[in-house]
Amino acid sequence: MRVVILPNEKEASSFAAEFIENFIAQKENLVLGLATGSSVLLTYEELIKKHASNGLSFKKVTTFNLDEYIGLKPGHSQSYRHYMNHKLFNHIDIDKKNTYIPECFNEDYELCCANYESKIKSTGGIDLQVLGIGANGHIGFNEPTSSLRSRTRVKTLTENTIKNNARFFNDNELQPSIAVTMGIGTIMDAESILLIGLGKHKSKSVADLIEGPISSFCPGSVLQNHQNVVIVLDSLAASDLKLYDYYIHTEKMYLEFMG
Ligand code: F6R
Repeated sequence: MRVVILPNEKEASSFAAEFIENFIAQKENLVLGLATGSSVLLTYEELIKKHASNGLSFKKVTTFNLDEYIGLKPGHSQSYRHYMNHKLFNHIDIDKKNTYIPECFNEDYELCCANYESKIKSTGGIDLQVLGIGANGHIGFNEPTSSLRSRTRVKTLTENTIKNNARFFNDNELQPSIAVTMGIGTIMDAESILLIGLGKHKSKSVADLIEGPISSFCPGSVLQNHQNVVIVLDSLAASDLKLYDYYIHTEKMYLEFMG
């Protein structure tokens, strides 16, 4: 696990955007796993800037999002499809036909989830999965005590997650309490993983993820078992790490070693 601690969210997000850019440059037909929420916002803004200023192209990129609410009508302003279109896809040259979100509307949910898994497999699997982390340690909508080998399925959100995401909904708007999410096993199948953690409110779940025991109580801790993970943090999100100074030192050594 490579832990990169940067002074603030802007620098952490620039790092993340550059990391994604390098993947796009290195692999034709990259399959990118994406997240929604606030942790990835500045990174998406940086990617949009890179597209506008240095021609970073997404024409050959395919994307799979982690999750989507159940119960919102297609095109609803709080749907993750709407978020992705407005925060990223509408501003880059990606072919929207190659952007997948686990949207299941009034249908056989099991089949819809199985189809999502099959679609990921048929594109050759996810090369790089981008993640945020919940204050309760969730990745995707895999809430605490989710099976560490779970696949894409319907999950009931915890009260904590519903409360944290209430900020995105207006008072009179229905806020769903269930969602479809890639499973932890699905996420773990990605070739590489980049997790972005920003802000003091993430410091505990970040510490549990990196330094705690592997436990379904902090689903993100399963990433300790993945051989290719980069965690990029601002200093506030990193502030509860016991080995804070060590991570700063190892990253300095890593950069020196890599020239
Ligand atoms: C979003 C997702 C979630 C978020 C997490 C952090 O698609 O899967 O796991 O990454 O809840 O949310 P923010 O970034 O809003 O703090």
